[in-house]
Amino acid sequence: MLSVDGLTKSFGSGTNKLQVLKGVDMNIQQGEMVALMGPSGSGKSTLLNIIGGLLAGDGGTITLGERTYGRKGPASVVDVRRELVGWIFQDFHLLDNLSALDNVAMALELSGMDASAAEKAAVVALEKVGLGDRMNFIPDQLSGGQQQRVAIARAIAGNRPVLLADEPTGNLDIASGKEVMALFKALCHDEENPISILMVTHDPDLASNADRMLLLNNGKTEASDIRSAWGLDAEADQQTSGGEEE
Ligand SMILES: Nc1ncnc2c1ncn2[C@@H]1O[C@H](COP(=O)(O)OP(=O)(O)OP(=O)(O)O)[C@@H](O)[C@H]1O
Ligand SMILES: [Mg+2]
Repeated sequence: MLSVDGLTKSFGSGTNKLQVLKGVDMNIQQGEMVALMGPSGSGKSTLLNIIGGLLAGDGGTITLGERTYGRKGPASVVDVRRELVGWIFQDFHLLDNLSALDNVAMALELSGMDASAAEKAAVVALEKVGLGDRMNFIPDQLSGGQQQRVAIARAIAGNRPVLLADEPTGNLDIASGKEVMALFKALCHDEENPISILMVTHDPDLASNADRMLLLNNGKTEASDIRSAWGLDAEADQQTSGGEEE
């Protein structure tokens, strides 16, 4: 479904040049939920931004279904953003004055759907995320977890095959974070229309909900299990001593 091959990206030039991605190779199958972890500044958001068509890579390729890109600038991958990839952000990015229904419907209209079709699709998506009874509420009238579910409805409404989530639970309490994970899992493992999710998280507990985990370190991704990624086997004591920002 999604394949990244030899992707490189640097920022700046000369002595200020920072090579962030040094040849990332990864694959995600349809119906797979993959957690991406790695230290702060390791390039997780950069990788998502290139996959999502918001940023051009320097080298390598991305194949998403039939589409191949990776070094093309944002203007050349409009179709990737409109049809192939949905986004979930830490801070929801909802419009404050619009109802849940209108937040979802508007995104569909922007991608070219006519108003009545957009509203119908928005209703279906909101029901899918369990907000059938909250469609006319504005974000302020919803809990954080509910707001994130509106954002998830918006991301899946256009039947996009891949969802990119950059720290989707960063602003949620533990219980709401777990609910979002359960919803992600259900969307990936849906028998009729399974999607793929690539999710960045700093929380090993939430990452353990994924089908698979990747660690981005030193510009490359490697398959990893939760314990070795976090040094839990060798440094169980240090993990709890704090000092690390979540
Ligand atoms: N537009 C940019 N211009 C210059 N440097 C950038 C730019 N975007 C990212 N960087 C740098 O690239 C590196 C990777 O950033 P990125 O945001 O991808 O990391 P991250 O893994 O998502 O970190 P975090 O966990 O803190 O969100 C950082 O050192 C960052 O400062
Ligand atoms: Mg980031």
